[in-house]
Amino acid sequence: MNEITLNWNEYTESAIMTACEGTVMLENNDNVLPLKKGTRVALFGRMQTHYYKSGTGSGGMVNVNHVTDIREGLNDCPDITLDAELMDIYDKWDAENPIDAGLGWGKEAWSQPEMPVSEELSKTLSARNDVAVIIIARTAGEDRDNSSDKGAYYLSDTEEELLDTVSKTFEKTVVLLNVGNIIDMRFVKKYGIKAVLYVWQAGMTGGLSVARILSGKVNPSGCLPDTIAESLDDYASSANFCKDLKEDVYQEDIFVGYRYFSTFDKTDVLYPFGFGLSYTDFELTDKEFSFEDGKVTVSVTVRNKGAVSGKKAVMLYCKAPDGKLSKPARVLAGFAKTGNITAGGEERVTIEAPLRRFASFDDDGRTGLGSTGFVLEKGTYEFFLGSDFISAEPVGSFDLGENTMLEALGTALAPTKAFKRLTAIPNGDGTYTKGEEDVPVATVNYLESRMERVRPEIPQTGDLGIKLADVKHGRNTIEEFVAQLTDEDLCLIIRGEGMGSPKVTIGTAAAFGGVTRELKAMGVPTLCCTDGPSGMRLDSGKKAFSLPNGTCLASTFNVEIVEELYTFLGVEMLSNRIDALLGPGINIHRHPLNGRNFEYFSEDPLLTGLMAAAQVRALEKSGVTPVIKHFCANNRETHRREMSSAVSSRALREIYLPAFEIAIKEGGARCVMTSYNRINDIYSACHYDQNTMVLREQWGFKGLVMTDWWAYINKEVTIAEKYSLEDHSVMARSQNDVYMVCTSVERENLLEADTYKELTEGDGSNITRAELQRNAINILNFAMNTPAMDRVEGKELTINHVDNPFSDDDVEVDTDVFYSMEDEVTIECKTKTSRGKDFVFGITCSKQGYYSLAFTGYSNLGELAQVPMTLYITSIPVAVITWNGTNGELVTKEAECMMYTKNCVFRAHFPSGGVSIKSLTVKYLRPIDGVEGQPE
Ligand code: BGC
Repeated sequence: MNEITLNWNEYTESAIMTACEGTVMLENNDNVLPLKKGTRVALFGRMQTHYYKSGTGSGGMVNVNHVTDIREGLNDCPDITLDAELMDIYDKWDAENPIDAGLGWGKEAWSQPEMPVSEELSKTLSARNDVAVIIIARTAGEDRDNSSDKGAYYLSDTEEELLDTVSKTFEKTVVLLNVGNIIDMRFVKKYGIKAVLYVWQAGMTGGLSVARILSGKVNPSGCLPDTIAESLDDYASSANFCKDLKEDVYQEDIFVGYRYFSTFDKTDVLYPFGFGLSYTDFELTDKEFSFEDGKVTVSVTVRNKGAVSGKKAVMLYCKAPDGKLSKPARVLAGFAKTGNITAGGEERVTIEAPLRRFASFDDDGRTGLGSTGFVLEKGTYEFFLGSDFISAEPVGSFDLGENTMLEALGTALAPTKAFKRLTAIPNGDGTYTKGEEDVPVATVNYLESRMERVRPEIPQTGDLGIKLADVKHGRNTIEEFVAQLTDEDLCLIIRGEGMGSPKVTIGTAAAFGGVTRELKAMGVPTLCCTDGPSGMRLDSGKKAFSLPNGTCLASTFNVEIVEELYTFLGVEMLSNRIDALLGPGINIHRHPLNGRNFEYFSEDPLLTGLMAAAQVRALEKSGVTPVIKHFCANNRETHRREMSSAVSSRALREIYLPAFEIAIKEGGARCVMTSYNRINDIYSACHYDQNTMVLREQWGFKGLVMTDWWAYINKEVTIAEKYSLEDHSVMARSQNDVYMVCTSVERENLLEADTYKELTEGDGSNITRAELQRNAINILNFAMNTPAMDRVEGKELTINHVDNPFSDDDVEVDTDVFYSMEDEVTIECKTKTSRGKDFVFGITCSKQGYYSLAFTGYSNLGELAQVPMTLYITSIPVAVITWNGTNGELVTKEAECMMYTKNCVFRAHFPSGGVSIKSLTVKYLRPIDGVEGQPE
């Protein structure tokens, strides 16, 4: 088969239905929802026309042609009438009080000022409408944690007044939360709100899903992937989250989210993990429990007792016995989602829970089994079935007579210095008192014995004409191919080029694999990756489908629906020649204020892992690859590249690593991105324990590992302050195979990193040839099974699009200002960019040829800010330059392009702002194909 079809109607429908299923209804008093036929709705909240399709940062930069907001979605419902006058009032106010787009990357507002609504207006509206629907919207994102301010985690004063006024005047008030993170929910009780729904940030079609739920076309079945507590201070991680710029101590240890609340403070919970209402009622009957073949199996009949059809998520929780190790009172051991059960109908579902899902990690051998590792302590294992962790009911138990070691694992990744962690001291009556103890520290330095895990160096042969395709088709071995690589090749293959490398699809995050002329000549494909995770980020300005965000997906508790949706995305990637998506992000919602929670899934590692595995299977099925990120313990954005997560081996194994392990072992993930942060003082990008011991030696991962963009590495791993972007040697030694990203990767740039010098002049303590050959094998084995390899072999698939909503940007580009040039011209620009701004200029050249365009400018944004600038000639994108923050210093960024005609109109487009361009120098470089020519 060399043709496939992407039906955009099916893709869109899949996204809408997934978001419907991710909508979580927390209240529906007096059955105010669904809205009955003919309901007149007063729609409040200025964000009714500014829906947040996603959070901010790299995961939110999918260009779309249109976002269906909630007003548009509801307006499309024939059964609902929106109050036209109120919409006019909002439109007028909105025009007078425009949205504050913020200063750019990492500096966006968490919310927009709300329009005040007088009691008089509200009364008038309540007289002619049946229901008030209020939208509260929030955003946060990369480089931008949410905050405990009003207008962020808390409601703003105007929002409070709005809720107060409207709920007093209307009999029925519904609140919709268009948010990426959970927010303070005390308003529900305070104002007696009848219905509340987390509609999350559900991509470009989000408003349509909201409309289907409110109108009752779809029955909500989403459940909370996080626990909502009464107060922010109730979360155990609040004590340390972002309190110290350099280090975040994970003192709460394994007691994250519901694990904490179920053990200690259940009464602090407003809405528990797993909670979500429906328009119908379900009953769980005929429960069967068994424990055999190393797993627990529970079957149950889900009966729909109500009047409308609906789906139901069923969760199984375990309570492990008290013993030497503290245990959370509940741990999610499995879940299942029914299909659509008609009123009065039923469905039997089965949940299987292998022992590892509820085992504990003994990180100092205290259970007496002779090692550290995953253990089951003796005693009674009780299981609970239901949805949320509080109301789930006992379903069965089994007794274990002996402490049992499931998997003996060393102390890899353990802290090097002690700190206190939370423990649970049993009171004997099923309740627990909080205690604390020192975390066990590392007992082995695995790095010292690293050469024992490296295969002998492969003698170099020079180029024998073996191509990578010969290896793929079994004509040669990978070792024979790698033997041909020179030291230069070995040092360059571990570099990625970006952002906006001209070697791959324009406007993407990086090119990797066959980056240099020499590697390409040997048949190594040039691979292309881009963000991720909720659709493709194409900084060329090209449009792509924007999908529901991670938290919304997790709320579905439906792995099949997520898998189906991501299969479409896989095909869309193929049609853009993108081999790898930088996502899913599978860090844990350790704290409600983490800015990137919208990209991630949940506070629970199993739910996160199974959702990630679904996406991995889907993308791989389509022929492309996800890059699971950020490995690991990247749970805050504040000072993310400078901070260390101080975390016990146990918390890593039970909370922060399992999602990665599941995505790899159950999903088949082949690509991992390490994180910016340090883990117990060592940078993730060069963390030997993480990238070799845990990932490859213990989990059997055979794929490729890349760094996050411009990650820090520290050669002297214990001296955190001594980091650099160039110490690729120790990155490679740890088996993080590719450094992302370098501006240009060719032989000329060989000495821009330390690897070549270390290899040829060093004593082998930082890198050896055998290790670099191992990195090359990791990269090449991965590269061989990619669409880019198919292209090298001339086997590219043809994608037929049905009803593609996106057409290529038809931008009118015109200017009267032309600069004439011979060999060089400098143009003073003084352009301060803002979101959507274009800088248009014309060049009149006297010869055809390649020209360099060097832009000089600065940005006051943070160093990791990504401000793409797409350079078009007329409407054809020719280059993308990504600016980072420069602390106000002037820097020069260069692009190369061909000028063929005499008068060329250029457009530099900024999808987001924050850069000031001072000048531009255009320089003639060389003729086209070596032939001097007059421009046409
Ligand atoms: C983010 C990654 C992202 C990368 C490329 C980094 O700043 O942390 O998640 O994939 O940029 O855009």
